[in-house]
Amino acid sequence: MVSARLLPLLLSRSLATSITSATSRPSPGSPMASERNKSPIGDVLDGYLPSGSDERTSLLEFSSGNASHALYLEKRFRSRGLDWKPTELTQGLVNAIERRVKKEGDAGNGIQTPMLVDLTQDLPSILSHGSFHLVLSVNMIHIAPWAAVQGLFKAAGCALVPSGVMLTYGPYGFNGTIEPESNVAFDTSLRSLGDWGIRQVSDLEAEAEDNGLWLEKVVDMPANNKVLVWRKN
Ligand SMILES: C[S@@+](CC[C@H](N)C(=O)[O-])C[C@H]1O[C@@H](n2cnc3c(N)ncnc32)[C@H](O)[C@@H]1O
Repeated sequence: MVSARLLPLLLSRSLATSITSATSRPSPGSPMASERNKSPIGDVLDGYLPSGSDERTSLLEFSSGNASHALYLEKRFRSRGLDWKPTELTQGLVNAIERRVKKEGDAGNGIQTPMLVDLTQDLPSILSHGSFHLVLSVNMIHIAPWAAVQGLFKAAGCALVPSGVMLTYGPYGFNGTIEPESNVAFDTSLRSLGDWGIRQVSDLEAEAEDNGLWLEKVVDMPANNKVLVWRKN
């Protein structure tokens, strides 16, 4: 089992290498993966943002990693009035996000102070008042323990406004199978590391239902990934 304390280190170093070589996918969480997927993820997010900026849209991102998505997407959609709240699992990762946003973020941008959130623990109360229009989670569901996945759906159920939307990006299994073969190999390498692995969408739907969400749409993405669109009742 990979401990929460070791996870960030593993992700940034040896794990990145081993997963990449085992599957010939860019390692999830590596700069290469987030640089490649940020634009297609933005194309999906586009459809869930208002066309103008009369009202601010609040987005809560879980497991923001190195803040690549926050920096790119907040800038891309700045004219649409987006307030982006990054979060991460450890204080070290939160501090690193804060440093990167300060260094690379344009003055006056909509990225808010990042927050410490461990999805296996209770959600900080400030995030649990049903005030976010959108929740985003990229490449976390298969590379975190199942308890964190359960925590993600619980958190989305609490944090979203009624009819709010959560977008989750990554590889998924459908109808008890994983396809194609490269994703099967990826799943095997993840499972060798602990309570990780490509999740079946039916298992995610059960968690969603328990937390007042439902799967509205599945969007095909490059490299055998999907965006799942979860709507709060
Ligand atoms: C593969 S990285 C993805 C990072 C980023 N979203 C990206 O796409 O670059 C997986 C992320 O899951 C996060 N994670 C793992 N367990 C978690 C937990 N219990 N609570 C919150 N985040 C967790 C890690 O800190 C890491 O940032």
